Amino acid sequence: MKIAIPKELHPGETRVAASVEVVKKLVGFGFDLAVEKGAGAAASITDNDFKGAGASIAASAQAALKDADVVLKIQRPTADEVKLMKKGAVVCAHMSALTEKADMQAMAKAGLTVFAMELMPRISRAQSMDILSSQSNLAGYKAVLDACNEYGSALPMMMTAAGTIAPAKVFIMGVGVAGLQAIATAKRLGAVVTATDVRPATREQVESLGGKFLTVDAEMEKDAETEGGYAKQMPPEYFEKQKVVVSEHIKKQDIVITTALIPGKKAPVLVTKDMVASMSTGSVIVDLAVEAGGNVEGSKPGKVAKAKNGVHIVGHNNVPGRLPKDASNLFAKNLLNFLSPHVNKEAKTITFDFEDETVSGTCVCKDGKLIHPMLTGQDAKKGEA
Ligand code: NAI
Repeated sequence: MKIAIPKELHPGETRVAASVEVVKKLVGFGFDLAVEKGAGAAASITDNDFKGAGASIAASAQAALKDADVVLKIQRPTADEVKLMKKGAVVCAHMSALTEKADMQAMAKAGLTVFAMELMPRISRAQSMDILSSQSNLAGYKAVLDACNEYGSALPMMMTAAGTIAPAKVFIMGVGVAGLQAIATAKRLGAVVTATDVRPATREQVESLGGKFLTVDAEMEKDAETEGGYAKQMPPEYFEKQKVVVSEHIKKQDIVITTALIPGKKAPVLVTKDMVASMSTGSVIVDLAVEAGGNVEGSKPGKVAKAKNGVHIVGHNNVPGRLPKDASNLFAKNLLNFLSPHVNKEAKTITFDFEDETVSGTCVCKDGKLIHPMLTGQDAKKGEA
């Protein structure tokens, strides 16, 4: 059985869906691994590293993908890549399946069996397969460093002979995986940290990391979480109240990091133009949701913008890709953990058990048809919740 790892084609993508450790494991199962030449270069993983782990190096995407039974990728394949894959091939990647339905349909038509890793159910057993968590964790860390880069002052309190520097005030909006890591990182750097989220369960988590929780409306927040652990889309009244509470708080902050996402939907706007205008010159906002439409008015994907009053608004795309080596290693491990339970060691094949909810929960299409309930309409509500 052949497993292919092509070089990522998406502009600015630095990650690769394999690591030395994962290649070794897959080769150990008896699979032939074909890694495209230079696929790991931007993540500082060389062709020789992959060769040493037992992979062969394919000279082109065409050579890597030819006859591959399984294709491992970071981003969903392009139309040209799909053309190079054989009917029946399995493809695992972050597919953006809920927003890119036409591409999912095209892959179904091409006869591919597609697993959208971002749809991994949020059950304890699946934590080790969860690409959103592994990548968000790195993004949360890097967001704080990116903020420090733009910020003209230090984060920790410093008492020096020349005078005392006050600690920076950092406010984290959205306390999921990225937000929690941002809180931990800002705390480690000595900042005074506050945070807010619609899900009330996050209060305890914020406090356990030494942050202070900012409540918007305890009553409305009681019903803010889906069964899957995600935030629901909140009613307009909530956003009105959030605006008032946050407006008061934000004008005293030096750094704001926003991470709020609603699966399959445009990200909610949490920081308005007026809030940006109320902040001091030199303060920094990092919008980690910029690629999902943005939490901050005035943030621009792929840019560090400057508001009229001198507030920096950081909108880097693909923040996990700014730590490409760790991001690749963790992503590849997530893929390995997903595939491993279905490996038949004697036959040296992979046979997916569709009774397993990590399989049925992520499989977008097979046998020429879209099958995921969130895409076929049977479970569209869940996607919205
Ligand atoms: P996410 O990336 O979807 O969203 C980030 C955060 O933004 C969430 O905490 C969400 O509640 C918050 N948010 C959404 N709208 C907001 C608004 N209007 N105002 C303020 N905050 C808003 O979330 P993520 O990081 O994927 O985590 C969601 C939950 O899932 C967490 O409790 C996490 O611990 C849990 N989880 C469970 C896993 C498992 O059991 N396998 C794996 C990964 C996460």
